[in-house]
Amino acid sequence: MKQKLMTIKNHAVSLILDTKDAKELEQIKLQFLGKSGSLTQLMKEITTLAPEERKEIGVLINETKTILEEAITTALTKHTTVKKENLAQFDVTEPGKRPSLGHIHPVTQAIEEITSIFEKIGFSRVRHPEIEWDWYAFGALNFPDNHPARDDWETFFIKQEKDPKKGSVLLTPHTSSGQIREMEKGKFPIQMLNIAKTYRRQSDASHVPMFHQFETLFIGENISITHLKGVLDYFVKSYFGQDRVSRIRPYHFQFTEPSFETDVSCGVCKGKGCRLCKEGWLELGGAGMVHPNVLKNCGIDPTKYSGFASGWGVERVLAMKEGVNIDDVRLFYANRMEFLEQF
Ligand code: PHE
Repeated sequence: MKQKLMTIKNHAVSLILDTKDAKELEQIKLQFLGKSGSLTQLMKEITTLAPEERKEIGVLINETKTILEEAITTALTKHTTVKKENLAQFDVTEPGKRPSLGHIHPVTQAIEEITSIFEKIGFSRVRHPEIEWDWYAFGALNFPDNHPARDDWETFFIKQEKDPKKGSVLLTPHTSSGQIREMEKGKFPIQMLNIAKTYRRQSDASHVPMFHQFETLFIGENISITHLKGVLDYFVKSYFGQDRVSRIRPYHFQFTEPSFETDVSCGVCKGKGCRLCKEGWLELGGAGMVHPNVLKNCGIDPTKYSGFASGWGVERVLAMKEGVNIDDVRLFYANRMEFLEQF
């Protein structure tokens, strides 16, 4: 009987290995394991054996049964996988889908362009803390304690114990804090370009709570307003176009004397006056000659050194650039692909 079992097993296995599809397997399953299958028949014959042989043969038959069942399952998965492959016809000549390429954010592009414009005339880009002490953002910039002019910069203060000398901790509302950090180093001449994130409690079509400013500071001997006007003009022509002109208007800042608002001629009406501008001019931002008190606060002798500073908005100049006239700065941070893809 053992011999008979071996023959059945070998026969079944070779048949299973030769099958080409699931249908053939089904037949083999019936032939050996079905109700009248040869293995099932053999099981019935056990009763004819001597009791001591029955147990051994029974175990062997069951083992064979398991082996055959497993072989059938393995063969079945093989057939079905092959079948799937046959079905999945794909055309290797069909052009593929191009992965979409990203690009640098328009604000970063503007920062890179501004940096390269100023680097050409000797300014170096620096970075300073954006979480800063009141002293650097206001105190050293000639704002007496509790002076209401602090309110002009809608500042976010951080809940932290005040430093007896440097005061509260805040998010930089302007890049002018970088002037103090730079002058403290005490190396001259200073030709700083500080581009950083700035924060103010404002959000509307022309303000976002986090924006960027670029600040220049030029300190040396005999630096005058003509240098300021020259750098302003150079920037305006390089960034906006050779046909644009700049002007300075008197203004007030605590940390500069004299102080100015700087303007650029409107690119749309060419200075005649239109809906976009104020009588032909667009406002760029603040500037002025560094106040002697500010120099003194940084340990600099105002009789020896003088200089100018300017602070303008990155998003603002980008929105003002010809061909980019954007009426809502919040779009830069709304992460809308249709908008960003245009740059
Ligand atoms: N910090 C000023 C502002 O944010 C701009 C400014 C910078 C003015 C440098 C004068 C000199 O409005």
